[in-house]
Amino acid sequence: MKPKVYIAKPVSQQVENYIAEYCDYRMWRGEENIPKEVLMEEIQDVEGLMIPKAKVDEEFIKKASHLRIVSHIAVGYDTLDTDLMSEHNIIGTHTPYVLDDTVADLIIGLMLSSARRISQLDHYVKAGKWDKSDDPFFLSKDVHHATLGIIGMGRIGEQVAKRASLGFDMNVLYCNRSPRPEAEEKYGAEKKTMEQILKQSDFVLTMVPLTDETQHLIGDKEFKQMKKDAIFINPSRGKVVDETALIGALEANEIGGAALDVFEKEPVDPANPLVTMENVVMTPHIGSATADAREAMAMKAAENLVAGVTGGKPENVVKELKHLV
Ligand code: DGY
Repeated sequence: MKPKVYIAKPVSQQVENYIAEYCDYRMWRGEENIPKEVLMEEIQDVEGLMIPKAKVDEEFIKKASHLRIVSHIAVGYDTLDTDLMSEHNIIGTHTPYVLDDTVADLIIGLMLSSARRISQLDHYVKAGKWDKSDDPFFLSKDVHHATLGIIGMGRIGEQVAKRASLGFDMNVLYCNRSPRPEAEEKYGAEKKTMEQILKQSDFVLTMVPLTDETQHLIGDKEFKQMKKDAIFINPSRGKVVDETALIGALEANEIGGAALDVFEKEPVDPANPLVTMENVVMTPHIGSATADAREAMAMKAAENLVAGVTGGKPENVVKELKHLV
């Protein structure tokens, strides 16, 4: 008998066929996100779950008494309670590598868009305007040869460093627990303290995973240390930044602008002051959202899922649960 699994998001025929070869599966086929009550019902008899993001907590674990693996279709896994999963012998996997370039591309896009006011000027032209007076509004900020500070130099950070250094002649600073000799050698990246990065960078990028240590890593004090015209970029997780402090820093002109793909509360509340700020560029958490990257992520998640329920060793077990395999 094949192991039973649940796929909580529609996937391509190719991914579905792959799972069908090894598993007895059911799949959520709705266009909207799977409702919580449906998910809670569906996880009761399965050994494997494949899902973009599952909140695995006590309530979830109580329902999923047969579960052996949660295969996330995402690289971030801050919604998994890994201590609880370890206690219940449930493996958690994610999808690193396959989205690194795609997210790095978006980060460069956010940087260019905010520095050169691309989205603001797009609205300007589409509103029928053209006048380019001497208003400083039209004199935006150079990206080339500027200094980019990367807080959290993982795989995606390195891809950004590569683009910034080789493509835009940027000066790259970074801080990270361990040094990144390859980035230093290939892209001239310099390891600095966080304070040095905040003080010296024209663009400050946060690229850390969300953990107890990184929650609100950037707040009032950090914004005050940044250059007055610095652009702050966050494509990692909203809670890495104290959003109230960010709003305050923007309102008080302590920094020049922000480019954000993630927010403390998603979807963003239309009443959030960031929404109406001219010097803020926002995208709806779409770092990995290209057709190719999403397909690669789904296939990688399917491979992890199948390995987890068929006695194999999934390739991308999250580090906190590696001892289970
Ligand atoms: C990821 O893969 O972690 C993306 O941010 C989507 O959640």
